[in-house]
Amino acid sequence: MHFQWYPGHMTKARRMMQEDMKLIDVVIELVDARIPYSSKNPDIDELAKNKTRVILLNKSDLADRKYTEQWKQYFEGQGYFVTLVNSKSGNGVKQVNDVVQKACHEKIERDRKKGILNRPIRAMVVGIPNVGKSTFINSFAGKASAKTGNKPGVTKGKQWIRLNKNIELLDTPGILWPKFEDQTVGLRLALIGSIREEILNIQELAFELTKFLAQHYKGNLSARYQIEEVEDALMNMNIIAEKRACKMKGGELDLEKTAGFIMDDFRNGRLGNITLEFPQKMDT
Ligand code: G4P
Repeated sequence: MHFQWYPGHMTKARRMMQEDMKLIDVVIELVDARIPYSSKNPDIDELAKNKTRVILLNKSDLADRKYTEQWKQYFEGQGYFVTLVNSKSGNGVKQVNDVVQKACHEKIERDRKKGILNRPIRAMVVGIPNVGKSTFINSFAGKASAKTGNKPGVTKGKQWIRLNKNIELLDTPGILWPKFEDQTVGLRLALIGSIREEILNIQELAFELTKFLAQHYKGNLSARYQIEEVEDALMNMNIIAEKRACKMKGGELDLEKTAGFIMDDFRNGRLGNITLEFPQKMDT
């Protein structure tokens, strides 16, 4: 499979983020809990050096809890402050406030010693496309928040969302680009649907997914489609197509259509809670 990326956009995004970094104390980085390694951009380490770092394992409702906990420990071991969220339902979003406070504890103390009291922490949300940045900001900011910042025309300043007396959030998230040089990463991003469909072969994707499921989540396909799972991934796709009477005009199995609903079921959590990569195999 071949993946196409757009370096021009990346250069601009990087420059903008460099500017924004000067304004903030803490970086709130969203990763997808199903692929925390592949949805994390290594360049942010350079961009955000000297900043306090928080990682949110977002879409935790779709991931396998056991591995999400392992990923949490993994990132904590690297010095991040980490918490699990489901930005869509709002689960875990409230706790982010506490985590940010905890992460910025030293800074708050330093300020206090200098006599600076009640200066809000300034934060910025970053992450690759589709990881849930806008959904998270909406959920985190909620209805109660008021937009602050400079008046248009006066200074070309940034818009801040005042979350409470302790935190201000930059209202536009920083968009990171994925690790584009790695084909495995590309495949995993494609599996969760964060790469545009048109450039991918859906049958190949569904094949890779069923292969992975046979290895790590045996029984999930049986549970969803009431089939007898076998070892062979392609065979499983055929069995599912047969079971669903998914056929073309001539009576031949329609694997394209079958692949489509398998992927759709996976991405919407109907194949169960699934994590596609495991922390013990990652050495970042
Ligand atoms: P972005 O700003 O980082 O690009 O991502 P955005 O918030 O637009 O979210 C991308 C998709 O991910 C949206 O789905 C959103 O609803 C979904 N999403 C975000 N956070 C979570 C989460 O914690 N759990 C789950 N299950 N989904 C999440 P969409 O298909 O584009 O829209 P919709 O179907 O929600 O309308």
